[in-house]
Amino acid sequence: MWGKEFMAQGIEKVLVPEEEIKKRVQELGDRISKDYDGEEIVVICVLKGASIFFADLCRAITVHMKMDFMGISSYGDAQKTSGIVKITKDCDTSITGKHVLIVEDIMDSGYTLTYLVRMLKERQPASVKIACLLDKPSRREVEITPDYCGFTVPNEFVVGFGLDYKGLYRNLPYIGVLKPEVYAN
Ligand code: IMP
Ligand code: MG
Repeated sequence: MWGKEFMAQGIEKVLVPEEEIKKRVQELGDRISKDYDGEEIVVICVLKGASIFFADLCRAITVHMKMDFMGISSYGDAQKTSGIVKITKDCDTSITGKHVLIVEDIMDSGYTLTYLVRMLKERQPASVKIACLLDKPSRREVEITPDYCGFTVPNEFVVGFGLDYKGLYRNLPYIGVLKPEVYAN
């Protein structure tokens, strides 16, 4: 059986339940709407992990926006980025002179977002800010902080709500900690 129960068997504990995420996303949406009041923004989803957070967050934001998507792949294993980031799909909206909000699933070492921000700034946008669902500040290797953050999480490997382990678990409606034996074998 490959049902929800099977998926849940890989989960050690629920870290952030569905209802809590929903509430927090609305709070972030309210803050973002207030901060950009009267402006038009370009909201960029970092595929694939941010997709679910992005869809919910965008609907909680009330200012005019254009949505775009970027694909990136970072060399490294499933649990850690190497710091070398490759763009597999660029956004097609012109961001020059625009307010850009990057939406990411989790900030870990910080390499991915440092690279993305630097790359997007070369296109001379009016501003670049970061919204991430989760932040693992204990693992930071470069100095960077999200402008909007859903939850700070401990140094554990988490999945669900877009976050994956080897491509799986993204469809879990909550954030869970993966059982160590799942990635041990
Ligand atoms: P950073 O460049 O180290 O900040 O890495 C961020 C990326 O690593 C995220 O976009 C995720 O794809 C991945 N990542 C880091 N920690 C986790 C985790 O606990 N679960 C799932 N993916 C993670
Ligand atoms: Mg990711």
